[in-house]
Amino acid sequence: MSKKILILPGDGIGPEIVAEAVNVINTLREEHGLDVELDEALVGGAAYDAAGHPLPGATLELAREADAILLGAVGGTKWESLDIAVRPEKGLLGLRSALNLFANLRPAILYPQLADASSLKPEIVSGLNLMIVRELTGGIYFGQPRGVRKLESGEKEGYNTLIYKESEVDRIVRVAFDIAQKRDGRVCSVDKANVLECTELWREVAIRASKDYPDIELSHMYVDNAAMQLVKAPKQFDVMVTTNMFGDILSDCAAMLTGSIGMLPSASLDENGKGMYEPIHGSAPDIAGQGVANPLATILSVAMMLRYSLNESAMADRIEKAVEQVLDQGLRTSDIMSDGMQQVGTEEMGSAVIAAMKD
Ligand code: IPM
Ligand code: MG
Repeated sequence: MSKKILILPGDGIGPEIVAEAVNVINTLREEHGLDVELDEALVGGAAYDAAGHPLPGATLELAREADAILLGAVGGTKWESLDIAVRPEKGLLGLRSALNLFANLRPAILYPQLADASSLKPEIVSGLNLMIVRELTGGIYFGQPRGVRKLESGEKEGYNTLIYKESEVDRIVRVAFDIAQKRDGRVCSVDKANVLECTELWREVAIRASKDYPDIELSHMYVDNAAMQLVKAPKQFDVMVTTNMFGDILSDCAAMLTGSIGMLPSASLDENGKGMYEPIHGSAPDIAGQGVANPLATILSVAMMLRYSLNESAMADRIEKAVEQVLDQGLRTSDIMSDGMQQVGTEEMGSAVIAAMKD
């Protein structure tokens, strides 16, 4: 039976970059026998405009039925003044939570062709291959109570709750250990155990779970130091595992080490390998509609989808090789442009990947 993929273009540059990724999927269907059906739905600001909610019931239903989801990006200045409950970001957070996509994998790989695009010295980043495993359905993003209340004095007070059950920590650190077993066998768990009880417990659970993984070398780092080490000596890390918010912050930092946030895909998985795949960059409203956005992170997200949810790793390899090939050819979107290279737009980049996939 064919597998179902739900396409959620979203906002800003989302529709442009997702269109290129869909062309890649269609090439695999037509020329390599990939057996999938595609459906498309609205999410984020686009859904709010059309249906009054960033995650309409119809979209959630299709998402539940799908084997995998490809999402572009959500959000934009246009919706920033809306109530937080119906802002575009709620569409994304709602999907993560409703589908229990607790394991967010964010690889940061430096393509040698792009070493010059990094703001760090080439010797610090060359060969970088790091995997950030971010907890995605708990922590301060979802903790209750939360809100803004009025004090007796009349002053307002805002509050959120950082909260993790042992079981939530246990399952995410085990994902990190499983991934490390297929890599260099090293996991650094990032916390703030010197200040926050919640992450003191996180550390305890990580140590306990690691007893089942004698082949894994587990280390611990406070998040402030981890941020510094990422910029100072990023190659010391193999797999990092951390909370929802720390992972949000550290993964943007790691992304930039690779030269451009426009290159990095991500996977958000549930217990059974069902996943939502998205580039880690945002909706970039400043360049939306101009045809200049880099589609490679979205195309590489399709490769992750093939590998983690569709069990088609040979097709995933084909996409990843094609991306390397277009970089070798010197093609660059503006975010990764450097001297002597050929600047191309979104569509040209997408077509070049498809041409390279045929080789
Ligand atoms: C990310 C984004 C999201 C997050 C936003 C858009 C809600 O920054 O996926 O990293 O904070 O998780
Ligand atoms: Mg983020």
